[in-house]
Parts: sequence; C-alpha cells; structure tokens
Amino acid sequence: MHEVDDAENKSVACSKCGADASHKSVGHLYEVICPRCGHVESGTFYPYETVTPSNTSREALIRAAIEARERAYAKYSQFQVGAAVLTGDGRMFSGCNVENSSYGLTICAERAAVFSAVAAGQHKLDMIAIATAGGATPCGACRQVLAEFNPALPILLVDVDHPDRIAETDLRQLLPGAFSFRPKSERR
Ligand code: THU
Repeated sequence: MHEVDDAENKSVACSKCGADASHKSVGHLYEVICPRCGHVESGTFYPYETVTPSNTSREALIRAAIEARERAYAKYSQFQVGAAVLTGDGRMFSGCNVENSSYGLTICAERAAVFSAVAAGQHKLDMIAIATAGGATPCGACRQVLAEFNPALPILLVDVDHPDRIAETDLRQLLPGAFSFRPKSERR
C-alpha cells in the first residue's frame, strides 16, 4: 500500500450536468461545487494505491493473528481476539485484546496491533488479519483507528475453528463515511 500525496487531483464529473468538476482533494472527503450548474458533489476519495499482498504474506499474517489470539488476556469476557497488520515495508505487527478489571480500560487486538506498528515507525498498512472464534468483524472504534492509516484497508476475518475459510472484506465496506479531520483552514 503506498500512500499517494495527500493533496491529489481528483477527477470528478458532475452527476447532474456532466461538466468537469475536477478539483484538488485534501484528505478523504471531498465536496466541490460544479462550475457549470452549481450542483454540490461530495464523496470519499481514497488517496491510496491498492497493493495485493502475496499469498505467502497473507498466510503469515493469518498465522500471526491466530498466534496473537492465544496470548489474549480475556479474563472477563473469555472472548479472545488476535490481530496482525502487514505494513508497507513488509513487516508484521500483532496484538491481542488485553482486558482490565476496570472494563472500560480494555484494549482491542486490532488497536494493539496498529499501535505497535506506529510505535515502530510504520504508518502504511497493507492488510490486517483478525482471528476470533466465529470470524468476528472489528468494532467501530477499531474501524476508525484503522481508517486513520488506510481507509481502504483489506481485512481478513479468520474463524479459528475454520482457518481454511477466510472471509475477506475491506474498510470501504465496513466503515463508509469514516470521520476525517479537516483543519479549519481547509474547511469551506
Ligand atoms: N474485542 C477486540 O479485541 N476487538 C474488537 O474489534 C471487538 C472486541 C475484544 C474486547 C474485549 O476484550 C472482548 O473482545 C469482548 O468485547
């Protein structure tokens, strides 16, 4: 996954009159007024180039997520989660959920994995594998954290009881309309 320059030329045709409404897009959300008819076009722009990790990387990522799950500290819920992210430099970082007797302090596996990658200086995420009993999808908070680093992130959902049946999705499907902070100077 290679992040393209954040300010990209976005090619858009007005959905009302078809005029060229291309513009410079900053961040993930765009809003532009058609120069011909005044119609406001808005949408989400993904300034990412999609990279398809090799089968070897996928297999390694799945294994790493399953192994991380075995280290989960899920004393209260008994629901163990493991996650592993593949970063732009080809490395993998894993995490597991760590619960606490003060329940709200619990950290999810996905965020533990992402924070570990960021602490190692990696901000480019190419893929994440998440291992649970049942192949659960990531929670809303984790989706937003993942979107910070790749709003189109490919996601492998691993059911530890059927590790051969991997469900594939991505963040575009799981978190349409993700929140994206735009500094005041860039807002209209
Ligand atoms: N959990 C995760 O690790 N990731 C998610 O995306 C959802 C939930 C953990 C938190 C808690 O330890 C347990 O699963 C039950 O909610």
